[in-house]
Amino acid sequence: MYLLATTNGGLESVTAGELDELVGADAERHHRGVVEFEADREAVYDLHYRSRTCHRFMEVLVDASIDDLEDVYDRTREVDIAAHLPFEDFGVVSTRHGHHDFTSMDVSERVGQAVIDGYREATGERLPVDLDDPTVRLEAYCYDDRFTLAVDLTGRSLHKRPYRVCEHESPIRPTMAYSMLRIAGYAAEDSLVDPMAGSGTIPIEAALAATDRPPCPDHDPAFGVLPRYDAEAFAERRAAHEPQSPSLNIEARDRREEWLDCARKNRDAGGLADEIAIVEADAREATLDADCVVTNLPFGVRVDEDLRNLYAAFADRLVEGSVDRAVALTTKPEFLPLEPVERYDIPYGRLDAVIVVYEP
Ligand SMILES: C[S@@+](CC[C@H](N)C(=O)[O-])C[C@H]1O[C@@H](n2cnc3c(N)ncnc32)[C@H](O)[C@@H]1O
Repeated sequence: MYLLATTNGGLESVTAGELDELVGADAERHHRGVVEFEADREAVYDLHYRSRTCHRFMEVLVDASIDDLEDVYDRTREVDIAAHLPFEDFGVVSTRHGHHDFTSMDVSERVGQAVIDGYREATGERLPVDLDDPTVRLEAYCYDDRFTLAVDLTGRSLHKRPYRVCEHESPIRPTMAYSMLRIAGYAAEDSLVDPMAGSGTIPIEAALAATDRPPCPDHDPAFGVLPRYDAEAFAERRAAHEPQSPSLNIEARDRREEWLDCARKNRDAGGLADEIAIVEADAREATLDADCVVTNLPFGVRVDEDLRNLYAAFADRLVEGSVDRAVALTTKPEFLPLEPVERYDIPYGRLDAVIVVYEP
């Protein structure tokens, strides 16, 4: 099967590394935030409870070059649509990039019409459309002359982790947190500190990964409605998966009691009370003795001076401590007086953020 996975823009190579590790896939960037790869159905099931960097998986129905909107219709009509879609309401979401004389709305409309026509030709029935909350979601991409149409397999995005019962005011996306841990090369035997952990996302993702627990253990993908998938086979594979229980050395620090309490709630909701220590500490002062330091620095859009002082003191602690690899997400890498060995540019909402890697 030919598949797409969505992830955080700028971290496609990290996702490719994860897909290779989990199912031996040789994934390539399709466009920003999306990778393409071949895998079998079992791999698709496994990825739905094991992937930690991906948001959604989709099976590709069309991947072709097009000249105009009629090509979008014709290529979609070539698909045996009744073999892929159930008799359920569907919706098409389109993204367009490049110079075209049509809009993404036009693409959705042509794809939708071709799906309705193809399904009616095969079955005599008219598929209902629901644009707001469709049971079956199709995703169309027109990137220059490349048209890709895929059916969503995942349903609710996998970045919505159930352990997050307490929300920080500026939380990191769990898939990005785990990607940073991969960039740090974190492994179960390493000691890890997040000195500015907020609600604990990075330490929690580390502990889930080190114990090989599914990040969304009760997630219900779209397999139950899609004709070529088997929800029971998926559930059986997930139930047969056995987590590990290595002894871990993971610390989540913050200086504010409010966030320490929030981290405690999330950690406990994830069943990780024994795996993560939650410690009140000021990152400007506390010693950093750990194999890996992975953190999401405060962006402080308003108070630059305080931020400079915090970043400088944190950098001093990194240099003084015994840290092999430090990975930080920030919008102000210039405030960190250290030379990065790697960097990843990440669009972060409306901000331009960067993941920087140091070997202090
Ligand atoms: C961007 S938030 C981290 C959010 C976290 N990754 C999450 O997902 O919840 C940065 C955190 O740094 C903490 N912080 C700021 N200055 C600090 C300091 N000097 N020492 C320790 N923590 C600090 C803030 O309280 C805040 O919780």
